[in-house]
Amino acid sequence: MTLLDTARAIRPNAYAPYSRFKVGAAIRGASGAVYAGVNVENVAYPEGTCAEAGAIAAMVAAGETRLTEVAVIADAPAPVPPCGGCRQKLAEFGDGDVRVTLATTDGATLTMTIAELLPGRFDSGHMART
Ligand code: THU
Repeated sequence: MTLLDTARAIRPNAYAPYSRFKVGAAIRGASGAVYAGVNVENVAYPEGTCAEAGAIAAMVAAGETRLTEVAVIADAPAPVPPCGGCRQKLAEFGDGDVRVTLATTDGATLTMTIAELLPGRFDSGHMART
């Protein structure tokens, strides 16, 4: 089972009654273990969380803080890209060359790196004077 298969399999569990846009995400930790997440919305809309955030939370809860591969899938006209906030979250735990596979449920995929998704990202180097 590929990482994308895992993301596809978990996607129906998304809780998205407001947007009706279900997203599944899967990440591979440096250990090789796979962690999955879905978006979890809330009637107080800003309290909703993205699928990527759920997968990252599962990885960190399991004791890992580095990821080596990411897959995200939704029923969209084009491969679904992580939102801006999730790009920064992925960059926290993955190197710039980590591959992120964006996918649609009808089979389109696009693979990008974290560096391509978030050029010029804020990192700890910017806090070198603190
Ligand atoms: N969403 C994700 O879970 N991941 C993304 O990369 C894009 C957007 C969710 C958030 C919200 O629940 C719904 O999709 C519509 O924005």
